[in-house]
Amino acid sequence: MNEPDFEKLDVSKPVARPEEHIVAANWKMNPADYDEAKRLFDGIKKRASYLRNITTIICPPTLYLQTLSNGYSGSKLKLGAQDISVKQETGSQTGEVSAGMFQTAGATYAIIGHSERRALIDTDTIVKQKLENALSAGLRPIICVGEHERDNDGEYLTFISRQITHALSNLSRQDMKQLIIAYEPLWAIGRSADEASSPRMVHQMALYIKKVLAEHFGRPVVSSIPLLYGGSVERSNAAELMDGTAINGFLVGHASRDIEHFRDILDAVNDIV
Ligand code: PGA
Repeated sequence: MNEPDFEKLDVSKPVARPEEHIVAANWKMNPADYDEAKRLFDGIKKRASYLRNITTIICPPTLYLQTLSNGYSGSKLKLGAQDISVKQETGSQTGEVSAGMFQTAGATYAIIGHSERRALIDTDTIVKQKLENALSAGLRPIICVGEHERDNDGEYLTFISRQITHALSNLSRQDMKQLIIAYEPLWAIGRSADEASSPRMVHQMALYIKKVLAEHFGRPVVSSIPLLYGGSVERSNAAELMDGTAINGFLVGHASRDIEHFRDILDAVNDIV
């Protein structure tokens, strides 16, 4: 594969890494019942409550979110929506849940444009609308971007650049400060640690995303937006993916549904940053 010359990207040196470090759990359509969700939540809560260096976010199924939130009085663990409606106002939208409803239910973050949503219906235009809805409701968006596959001509870079510039166009400075970007290559999602992106690829992509942000939105944006990596992050690769790469944490799928595994990932990030 003709690799773009990432070494020539000089953005990593002059631009400070945002100070914020985040590990977000995307439970997807799991677990099967509330009791198991509560058990998982409590197990993660214990560890998250004394980790000083990171913010831990759990994005449970919508149905569980409010009850988990009501039963939690701490401040270390945050809740996020896995998706929000493209519609902002309440109304005749069967099956939809608005950003405002999530905010009232206790969410402070929202995953926007996850590849599993994009595969179903979310175009770049829908992702942009959801991003704006999240911001208006006071939710911090975690915008997911990522290529289906890597080609030899670097087309996947253009693809990612387009996803980012479309989503972020015309946002105010203030709104930009709320954003989090998760790089989630589709070919690495839902597999195992040895099929995840390598630390080198993750680092390169983080530099590339910073370059896109700097070129299109200015350097201050680069230093305010935390970058996460997602795609088969497990306890065995978390430390190497964090160490020396320009990311600020992870968006974790399957490994976030195993208390021991997820705790190890939290510890790995907390120890490194
Ligand atoms: P995974 O999922 O960790 O199971 O690969 C990540 C994601 O889809 O957010």
